[in-house]
Amino acid sequence: MRINSAGGISVVKTMAIIKELLSDVFEVNSKVFDSLIKLLDIPYAESGAVLEFADSVRRKFCGNGILLRGIVEFSSYCKNNCYYCGLNAGNKKIERYRMDEAEIFEAAREVYKTGIKTVVLQSGEDSGFDWDMLTHVVKKIKKEFDMQITLSCGEQEEKLYENWKRAGAGRYLLKIETSNKKLYEKLHPQMSFDGRLECLRMLKKLGFQTGSGIIIGLKDQTTEDIANDIVFFSKEDFDMIGINPFIAHCESMLKNYPDGDPYLTIKTIALTRIITKNAHLPATTALGSIKKDEDLRKNALRAGANVIMPNFTPYKYRKQYEIYPGKRCLKENADIVDYLEKMAEETGRTLDFSKGDSLKGR
Ligand code: 5AD
Repeated sequence: MRINSAGGISVVKTMAIIKELLSDVFEVNSKVFDSLIKLLDIPYAESGAVLEFADSVRRKFCGNGILLRGIVEFSSYCKNNCYYCGLNAGNKKIERYRMDEAEIFEAAREVYKTGIKTVVLQSGEDSGFDWDMLTHVVKKIKKEFDMQITLSCGEQEEKLYENWKRAGAGRYLLKIETSNKKLYEKLHPQMSFDGRLECLRMLKKLGFQTGSGIIIGLKDQTTEDIANDIVFFSKEDFDMIGINPFIAHCESMLKNYPDGDPYLTIKTIALTRIITKNAHLPATTALGSIKKDEDLRKNALRAGANVIMPNFTPYKYRKQYEIYPGKRCLKENADIVDYLEKMAEETGRTLDFSKGDSLKGR
């Protein structure tokens, strides 16, 4: 281990806490929680041992590849008013768009043409969308291309989830955003924490590979909340977990609230890797966007992350899907794979173009 800071927490001490953490992972209890708090509290500059350990867990359970998923954001309409999100229904300043069937299909083809074999179709909770059309597109993509399809369209009726599953969608992403019920309900007016959990359980029951995740740096979120989130991930055994920093949007309720700490985000990814072992963990776009001159996805890749989700939303719509400002993907274009190839090289990894299904062996 390289990092051994004078005056700070020693590597030996850090490893002792990690050992304590691991001794009880199979029975997530208060001791695990305490270890997580201690590790989250270590300053980033002194967290080398934690990050390196997470990297070794990733290597052992997920291998050396960086899995790729191409994301297509097909509707920016949303009926919700999440405090942090730029697409909140109350934001009248943005121009909204909805892609039609042919556009969604063609965007999936663009993903397929690069060799990437997962397309993620994401939208707001668009109450005016023709969801049966989406079912149809899913069928068509499955018929034409050898691809896995992930949907991320929020909370929907069980029947609709079932239709999508039958049409051939194999995965679904629905972030819990925070596992603290009180905090969740403060940030999501008219939404219920239990309703969201119910959706996640429905998705699992239907056989979707299910992804969830959180935002780091939400107003009033504490270190205890984050430790609880990691325990929650472990208990729910998600196939994929996205962890990204909050980035303030000027047309949202949290517009005056400071951005989340990207380094705390990276530490949270590392601890989630250590606890969940083989969950897929993306180096998130928000993490890559929060610093102008540095792509912190690289740091996440060195601390347990094993997935990247390049953006394939057609250019003319891309800047309109502004969940937060300064998305790095606005600059990404057809040579995205070359850029990611470079990132893989720099981090001693390889790009993995396989479908990258869950490693949970269900
Ligand atoms: N900052 C960071 N992440 C955000 N998301 C939405 N708004 C923001 C923001 N301002 C994330 C949420 C959502 C995903 C699509 O984007 O976690 O689930």
